[in-house]
Amino acid sequence: MKYDFKTINRNNTNSLKWDLFSDKFPMWVADMDFKVAPPIFDAILNRINHKVYGYFIISDDLYDAYINWWKFYGLNMSKDELLFSIGVMPAITSIIREFTSFGDEILIQTPVYHVFFNVILNNNRKVIENPLVYDKDTLSYSIDFDDLEEKLSNPNTKMMLLCNPHNPIGKIWSRKDLVKIGQLCWKYNVILVSDEIHCDLTNPGKQYIPFASLDDELTGEEIENSLTCISPSKTFNIAGFQNSMVFTKNKEFYSRLEGRLMTDFFSGPNVLSVDVAIAAYNNCKDWLHELKQVLFENKKIVNDFLINEVPDVKLVQSDATYLLWLDCSSLNMDSNSLSEFLRKEKGVFLSPGIQFGRNGDNFLRMNIACPKELLNKELLAFKEGINLLKN
Ligand SMILES: Cc1ncc(COP(=O)(O)O)c(C=O)c1O
Repeated sequence: MKYDFKTINRNNTNSLKWDLFSDKFPMWVADMDFKVAPPIFDAILNRINHKVYGYFIISDDLYDAYINWWKFYGLNMSKDELLFSIGVMPAITSIIREFTSFGDEILIQTPVYHVFFNVILNNNRKVIENPLVYDKDTLSYSIDFDDLEEKLSNPNTKMMLLCNPHNPIGKIWSRKDLVKIGQLCWKYNVILVSDEIHCDLTNPGKQYIPFASLDDELTGEEIENSLTCISPSKTFNIAGFQNSMVFTKNKEFYSRLEGRLMTDFFSGPNVLSVDVAIAAYNNCKDWLHELKQVLFENKKIVNDFLINEVPDVKLVQSDATYLLWLDCSSLNMDSNSLSEFLRKEKGVFLSPGIQFGRNGDNFLRMNIACPKELLNKELLAFKEGINLLKN
């Protein structure tokens, strides 16, 4: 390995993951216990050394960096189809405020990233769930399209938030699934918001498909019925810099959202964000290549460990993300109690599945983006906690 995915100490750095609570083994919030790639660090130093930290613009270099990155995925974007936002969730907040009204229903596919619930409810809209269907034998999820169609056809449903790849189950939605979703949303006049923040962190041999790249299968109108949220923050572990874009081919959506992001004060970058994102997309491909190997090795470590040492807990099939979804149903304990028990007894903190929806209550979510040495210790603590529970 050329890069350092080993040493790290995040204690006492005001890290949300490490310092908000005092757990010994935090495996919850979605950031990585790895240093950034050297070109990102160099870009930060370069900006810091300038010693002038006023207001900044979104430079053409930043647009180009995003545009070039997504060419690899077969998505052609241009500058006038991209809107900067200080994060994916701020962008989704603005999208909800602009394109739906108080009391409207917004559909999500549960279990799903818990902040989707908050962003809908905090804006006084209603959550409509299209629960994903879990197959216990294959340890995998699929979409119930009959239920999806029924919910989308309700005139109160105005928007769907898609998560691709899906947090927390780690699924990359197939071309077929995406086409059906796109067609149904258009048919029932439901705006599709595709959150693709986890898109780069896929297993070897797997690749995600941007919703908006499906121009062979979908009509122009179906694609123009969507807004796509993208960001380097998960891929390069730079969430703290708050940099994202919304992509849409719909000119009306574009100009309305442009105004809304400004009204919400989400459209201005911070001092480091632009330089950092440019460095990430332009100069860190080989770092990402190694990171993906490390994450995949970690997944294999967890998979083998569970099979051999904690057979009561099953790893749900995962194609992407560093968040693993663990089926704990055979322990017969609700996820809040289970999570609390493991924390209290062994200091290992996994997110309780109930956070991601009612159908997540038999599960825990485990963040495995950390050095192997730490992961092994965490797994040991996890196993000891489960054994304690059973005895
Ligand atoms: C699916 C998804 N969307 C958005 C976010 C947060 O994005 P941001 O920090 O850019 O608001 C996360 C963070 O974990 C996520 O998992």
